[in-house]
Amino acid sequence: MDRPKIIILVSPSVDGRIALGPNRTLIDELEDSRQFEEHPWTEIEEKIRMLHHPKADMLGSYSYIKKDEPLKPLPHYEGDASRLYKDFFNEQNIKKKNRWNIIVDGRGRIRTFKKDPNNQQRLHLVTSQVPADYLYFLQQNKVPYLIAGKERVDLKVAFKKLKEHCGITELLHTSGGKLAGALLRDGMVDEINLIINPRIIGGFKTPTLFESLDLEDDQHPTDLVLITNKTLKNDFIWLQYRVKHNN
Ligand SMILES: NC(=O)c1ccc[n+]([C@@H]2O[C@H](COP(=O)([O-])OP(=O)(O)OC[C@H]3O[C@@H](n4cnc5c(N)ncnc54)[C@H](OP(=O)(O)O)[C@@H]3O)[C@@H](O)[C@H]2O)c1
Repeated sequence: MDRPKIIILVSPSVDGRIALGPNRTLIDELEDSRQFEEHPWTEIEEKIRMLHHPKADMLGSYSYIKKDEPLKPLPHYEGDASRLYKDFFNEQNIKKKNRWNIIVDGRGRIRTFKKDPNNQQRLHLVTSQVPADYLYFLQQNKVPYLIAGKERVDLKVAFKKLKEHCGITELLHTSGGKLAGALLRDGMVDEINLIINPRIIGGFKTPTLFESLDLEDDQHPTDLVLITNKTLKNDFIWLQYRVKHNN
């Protein structure tokens, strides 16, 4: 396989919503300490880490910046832009880190850096359409990046590079529904872990699990095999599925 094994961990409501509304995340609510203690996320995440030892975590840009949030302006880059449109990472730094924090940032929207938790090495996946100013900004901040695709990050190309260049063989994806949906349609999801939140949220515009293109007439649903079905504290349920690949 010329990509890492991809494990998804997400906590949807009983009706498959993964946020409280278009710009209202479940995580915001969980930051209320009472709600966070109620949620078994950490317990399950630890179990998954013990099982798979993922060398990388992956998130989409919407987990860092809201869809329509204005972008922070960057200083203009005056030099030879062609030197920036090449993969950029410094292996010296990487060896000191526990694991990778991979961020899909196809349009160069994430312009502030908080310290990455757990001594993680951040890496951005970008496209060849991001402005030179942005790539220069990443270089100035010593943030490695890989270029894959033109309009959107070409996930197949990106994963091949992540495996070849960074030795990532298992990757834990904890992002929202659009990125997971793109991975699913590309046949690149190997395991799905759902921590079912005993709530119903509803809503027409509320983000859901696996938002993706509709199935074509000749396409079929993705078949799953149940691995674990466990009732957790506070009426949450952990469902762990292996994805059946047809090839
Ligand atoms: N309940 C949970 O467990 C949980 C966990 C994580 C997040 N969330 C919620 O999920 C919401 C965010 O989810 P979302 O679905 O809006 O965003 P998302 O899954 O983070 O998707 C957006 C990211 O995916 C990229 N992307 C989307 N389609 C793509 C494709 N076909 N090819 C390549 N890249 C693609 C976008 O790239 P560009 O940057 O190029 O646009 C962007 O980086 C937030 O509300 C967050 O709170 C919930």
